[in-house]
Amino acid sequence: MARTAFNQRRYSRGAIAFHWIIAVLVIANLIYGLFHESLFKGAGLMPVHMAIGITVLVLSIARLAWRLTHRVPPLPASLPGWEKGLSHLVHWIFYALIILMPLSGWAMTSGGRHPHPVSWFGLFDVPMLPVSGGMAGAGHEFHEIFGYAMAALVVLHIAAALRHQFILRDGVLGRMMPGVEPSGRKR
Ligand code: HEM
Repeated sequence: MARTAFNQRRYSRGAIAFHWIIAVLVIANLIYGLFHESLFKGAGLMPVHMAIGITVLVLSIARLAWRLTHRVPPLPASLPGWEKGLSHLVHWIFYALIILMPLSGWAMTSGGRHPHPVSWFGLFDVPMLPVSGGMAGAGHEFHEIFGYAMAALVVLHIAAALRHQFILRDGVLGRMMPGVEPSGRKR
């Protein structure tokens, strides 16, 4: 497997761009998805939600390919093993969810009672997935379950990042911040 030069201290610019672009799109979709029947009812934003979701799917596959072919900076040695393990577990669950979340939404709209293609911001139609009614129904169920799981993980992830920044002060957040040189007294 090809591996590029390993930067010890921070993520590469490409990895940082992937992280923040996907984070903003996922959080926007989570907020809209969770409140589409209350706060955003009648706003007509579902086509945007679906187009953003397809964008997330493409970016996430590229990001996963990047992750599988590159090493990432190690966590501070001061962190206990269980925290490192938990952090890696949460990251890999995120990789799974940023792919399964849009896939389940795509399956849901490709089958069921009103199958329809997703328009990518009005520029072209994304072909429908070849799914049965049952698979579309399962996609719907999973989309809902994954949505709540993802929202909970996003809160956990942000809380962990803030803990690193303001309590542990170990420079972990700076490694993923554009233009910030990570500093940490516990390195
Ligand atoms: C990053 C990707 C995505 C995220 C985070 C996301 C998130 C969500 C969430 C949290 C909900 C509310 C679930 C519920 O409570 O029923 C939802 C609903 C929905 N999503 Fe997504 N979604 C994504 C991608 C997609 C894609 C790619 C499609 C279709 C191509 C899609 C189609 C829908 C539809 C049609 C609903 C409404 C379901 C209903 O009203 O029962 N989503 N989404």
